[in-house]
Amino acid sequence: MNSQTVLVTGGAGYIGSHACVELLQAGFNVVVVDNLCNSKSEALARVQQITGKTLQFYQADIRDPLALANIFEQEAIDTVIHFAGLKAVGESCQQPLRYYENNVYGSMVLIEAMQQANVKQLVFSSSATVYGEPPSVQYVEHFPLSPINPYGRTKAMIEDMLRDVSAADQLVKPENPWKIALLRYFNPIGAHASGLIGEDPNGIPNNLMPYVSQVAIGKLAQLSVFGDDYPTPDGTGIRDYIHVVDLVKGHIKAITALQSDKFAAGGCQAYNLGAGKGYSVLDMVKAFERVTGQTINYKIAPRRAGDLAEFFADPSLALQELDWQVEKTLDDMVADTWAWQTKNPQGYQ
Ligand code: NAD
Ligand code: UFG
Repeated sequence: MNSQTVLVTGGAGYIGSHACVELLQAGFNVVVVDNLCNSKSEALARVQQITGKTLQFYQADIRDPLALANIFEQEAIDTVIHFAGLKAVGESCQQPLRYYENNVYGSMVLIEAMQQANVKQLVFSSSATVYGEPPSVQYVEHFPLSPINPYGRTKAMIEDMLRDVSAADQLVKPENPWKIALLRYFNPIGAHASGLIGEDPNGIPNNLMPYVSQVAIGKLAQLSVFGDDYPTPDGTGIRDYIHVVDLVKGHIKAITALQSDKFAAGGCQAYNLGAGKGYSVLDMVKAFERVTGQTINYKIAPRRAGDLAEFFADPSLALQELDWQVEKTLDDMVADTWAWQTKNPQGYQ
C-alpha cells in the first residue's frame, strides 16, 4: 500500500478531480487545495463516492502564502501536482494581467511555500500551447517554445521558472535537488467511466467536445465548425485528443519516475502527454454520432482567430521515460463524455 501524500492544487477541477480518483485508487493520501473559482466542491464528494475513500480539502487560494504554509504544516506532503490555474485562451487575451497574476504569481507563491516546507517533488500541468507554431505539426519536447497567447505565455513562464529553480538548487544544494515533471497536455476530453465526474464548463463551452455534447443533449442549438478550408484532408482542424483518465495516469507515472534513478540528481523535464495522432473536427462529430446515436446539428463557420490547422504529440519520450502511453480509444472518449453529459445535464448543479 502506498502511504505517500500528494497535494493536488486545483483538485476540484476537471482534470484534478480525475487525478484525485486515480491517486486514491493507487493508494496515495490526497490533499486538495482549490479556491473553487472554476469548480464545485460536489466534484470532490463524487471523487469520494467513486473511490469509497476520503480526501482532505482546503478551500484556499494558491496565492495565499499563509494558507499554503498552514497546509504544509498540517499535512505531511511528499509531492505536489499543480493543476490550479485559469485556462481559457480567449479570456486570457481580454484579461492578461488576471492570467499572469493567477497562474504565474500563484505558481511563485506555491514554489516558495514548497521550498519553505522542503517539499521538492512537483508535477506541473503545462500545455501543448507552449509550442506556438513550431517547425513540424508533430510536436517534440526539444522544440523551441513560442506561445501565441497570454494563457500559453503563463505556462511557458512557469516552465522557465521551474527550470531556473531546479538548476539553481542542483548547483547549491545538490544533496537536496528539485525533481520536476512538466507535463504538456494535448487535448484532454472524456470523463470517468462512472459518469459521476466530468467537465462542467461555466456558460457556453469554448472547447469542441463539451460543445458537441451540449448540442447532442439539446442545450445548444448548433455547433459551429470553425473553418473547413485548412490544409487538412477534410479541411477542418486536427487535434490530438486524449482521454482524461489516460492523462491523469500519466501523472502517477511521473511521480514514480521522479522517485527513480533517472531523477536521483534532480532535474526538470518536459513530457508530451498525447496519443500521437490527430482527429479532425468532422472526425469527432462523426464519432460522436456513431457512438451515441445522436445527430449533431452543425454548420461550417469562419475560422476562429488564433487556431492552428493541425498539431499532435510525439509521445515517445513519455513512453521511454515514464512508461506511459494512452490506452483508451476514441470511442471510449466519446462514450464517457456522453455518459457524463446524460447523467448530469446541468453539470454538478
Ligand atoms: P479547471 O478550471 O477545471 O481546473 C482548475 C482548478 O484550479 C479549478 O478547480 C479552479 O477552481 C482552481 N484554481 C484556479 N485558480 C486557483 C487559485 N488561484 N487557487 C486555487 N485554486 C485555483 O481546469 P482543468 O481543465 O482541470 O485544467 C487543469 C490544469 O491543466 C490547468 O492548469 C490548465 O491550464 C491545464 N491544462 C488544461 C487543458 C484542458 O484542455 N483542459 C489543456 C492543457 C493544460
Ligand atoms: N472547434 C470548433 N467549434 C467549436 C470549438 C472548437 O470547430 O465550437 C474546433 C477548433 O477550431 C479546433 C478544434 O475544434 O480545430 C479543437 O478546439 P478546442 O477549443 O477544443 O481545443 P484547442 O486545440 O483550441 O485548445 C485546447 C485548450 C487549450 C490548450 C490546447 C492544447 O483549450 O487550452 O488545447 O492543449 F492549450
